[in-house]
Amino acid sequence: MTAHAPLPPNSRLGVFGGGQLGRMFAQAAARLGYRVTVFAPDEQPPAAQVAAAQVRADYDDLDAVRRFAAEVDAITYEFENVPASAVQAVADRVPVRPGPDLLAITRNRVREKSFLQDKGIAVTPFRRVDTVDELAAAATAFGGNAVVKTTELGYDGKGQCVLDAHTDARTVWSALGAPDELIVEQRIELAGECSVLVARDTAGTSVVYGPFYNTHTRHILDITTWQADDPGPWAQAARAIGTQVADAFQLEGLLCVECFVDARGKVMVNEIAPRPHNSGHLTIEACSISQFEQQARLTAGGAAVEPVPRAPAAAMANLLGDGWANGEPDWPAVWQDPAVTLHLYGKTAARPGRKMGHLTALAHTMAEAQARVENARHRIFEREV
Ligand SMILES: Nc1ncnc2c1ncn2[C@@H]1O[C@H](COP(=O)(O)OP(=O)(O)O)[C@@H](O)[C@H]1O
Ligand SMILES: [Mg+2]
Repeated sequence: MTAHAPLPPNSRLGVFGGGQLGRMFAQAAARLGYRVTVFAPDEQPPAAQVAAAQVRADYDDLDAVRRFAAEVDAITYEFENVPASAVQAVADRVPVRPGPDLLAITRNRVREKSFLQDKGIAVTPFRRVDTVDELAAAATAFGGNAVVKTTELGYDGKGQCVLDAHTDARTVWSALGAPDELIVEQRIELAGECSVLVARDTAGTSVVYGPFYNTHTRHILDITTWQADDPGPWAQAARAIGTQVADAFQLEGLLCVECFVDARGKVMVNEIAPRPHNSGHLTIEACSISQFEQQARLTAGGAAVEPVPRAPAAAMANLLGDGWANGEPDWPAVWQDPAVTLHLYGKTAARPGRKMGHLTALAHTMAEAQARVENARHRIFEREV
């Protein structure tokens, strides 16, 4: 066997987490002939609807976690907040990609930023604070222009708020649940946000996707655009950061690096997601190897392989639950444009801010792709969302 002989078809891949990322992973893995077992506490979550099997238990049920490990040949995750004890329990039995050490660092914003900074990688300026007084002092230190976040478990802008000269530190502390620690970051005057995906195999070869250009609405990703041959001023720096991050962690598997670009064009790491990412969904249509297929190959011990672009440019628009406010969306309206692909995640309850699906369009330019997904979304929701 060569260093890169992946698990053979019909091997069993496990995924922690049952959401849409796990669903798209399971779909890609199934196409390669793998059988996916989902570990998730909910009944029939999006991933389990399309997987071969589910272990339904809480993440801290270590007996169930060990049963899961005994059923599969390698494990990955789509949800990174699996308790460290559960990840360790499975890592003792089967390969887990990315590995438990990386997960332990990236689960905490202070640990993550400190690790990257120590490796010489640019990150958003930050401070860890343990008391209300330190919080107030940090706000002043960042010129009354800061963002405070919980160090763990935040997503889609949850667990964070802006700190200015008028903010009362005590109120903020309790609003964020009076935790043991918080992180205060300089509030960057953003020229834009982008992300890169990096896949790295057991031999240390890495492949970078992106950058993906991301626009957020209410702290939730709204639109991503991408082009194959990207001459943009941030592209080289963002891609270089992706490789540096992968090497710093000795990554095995796939992760996403979310970057901020400041007004002077400096690219810095905002945060790392140790899994596929919403901004990479367009790789399903736009690349010969999607982020999910790359994840499946690497989880199975295969080589990281550079994908071939399938279009000059692409765009993705999220479909949030808000779009259901007027009733069931007009799905057939999507198919008026053959360049647009619809993905729905099989979620039944459409709540505001909940990611229900997404649209992807392929086109000659990013602007054209963006117009096509936005127009399609407008048609199905019959209004701008
Ligand atoms: N320090 C910052 N400066 C400017 N904008 C920020 C900062 N931190 C967060 N944001 C905005 O909030 C969004 C969500 O923050 P992020 O740290 O990525 O948390 P989440 O885990 O919720 O994605 C970012 O994509 C960005 O738009
Ligand atoms: Mg983020």
